[in-house]
Amino acid sequence: MLGPVILAASRSDQMRRVISAAPVTKPVVNRFIAGENVNETVPVVRDTTARGLEVTLDVLGEDITDASEALRARDAYLELIEALAPLGLGERAEMSVKLSSFGQALPGGHDLALKNVTPVVEAAAEIGTTVTLDMEDHTTVDSTLAIHADLRERFPRTGAVVQSYLFRTEDDCRMLAEAGSRVRLVKGAYKEPASVAYQNKAEVDKAYIRCLRILMEGEGYPMIGSHDPRIISITQELARRAGRKLDDYEFQMLYGIREAEQARLAAEGHRMRVYIAYGTDWYGYFMRRLAERPANLAFFLRSLATR
Ligand code: FDA
Repeated sequence: MLGPVILAASRSDQMRRVISAAPVTKPVVNRFIAGENVNETVPVVRDTTARGLEVTLDVLGEDITDASEALRARDAYLELIEALAPLGLGERAEMSVKLSSFGQALPGGHDLALKNVTPVVEAAAEIGTTVTLDMEDHTTVDSTLAIHADLRERFPRTGAVVQSYLFRTEDDCRMLAEAGSRVRLVKGAYKEPASVAYQNKAEVDKAYIRCLRILMEGEGYPMIGSHDPRIISITQELARRAGRKLDDYEFQMLYGIREAEQARLAAEGHRMRVYIAYGTDWYGYFMRRLAERPANLAFFLRSLATR
């Protein structure tokens, strides 16, 4: 199983230097990343929304080591929101943020991340949209959910993400499935120890369905972050049984992955949101995509071989 090896490499500075410098890397990275900056990304947002899809935008960056970098992350999101304002898309274009890029892992990081992310959530609300807090490794979950609860007092549309591979997540789903909440359910993309997370894919999938049931039967707005055809059809069935209309939940997929399926779900009348990442700090994000799927890795290796 190469997945865990690649996930370990996703946190290695040495591997970051080697892979980032490889001349073949860029065209492959471009399959998953919309652009290096906001000017390259806005046309992608226009094009995607013109095709009836919705978007969530992620300015790449994570694992920062200095408080000034957190301010750069904040300013990059403020620049993005300024660029989105004239498009008038409201919640059809929301933001996804990783609190680690806002300083969560630095000393005093919980308060620092809350302080730095708040202006972004405020600016998003001013243009009629919202922010979802991505979930990172398990050591950050309590802090991220506490920041989510704090932000929701003023900005109730702020979204949370839960990962079905963690043992704790069914309880978190029960806590979050309240009226007005927006909760993205994913399987989880980090390398986690057996003390906190299921290691076996079948168990992660079963836990996903248990969590899905809780969210669908709850009062919040479930956001189904998965490319898995089985999960998609079970979602449709559980939504029907829970009496939810097509706009009472949404599907979410990553930019560059299963585009035909994205179009098909939107054509069926589903809300389909594409997670669009951009920026120069793409290494961690790119490596998690390679780890998820042998075909993604094969694509990367083929492009190395055909040069
Ligand atoms: P999984 O990898 O389990 O594959 C199941 C099946 O789906 C495959 O057998 C295949 O049929 C299909 N499939 C999957 N990938 C495919 C591909 N590239 N091409 C074709 N078919 C494919 N994680 C996290 O820890 N924190 C977060 O905040 C987020 N946020 C997030 C947002 C959104 C919108 C998405 C879609 C995902 C995330 N993730 C995430 C990542 C998530 O945890 C997970 O790693 C990936 O979505 C992979 O799991 P899947 O459920 O998509 O399929």
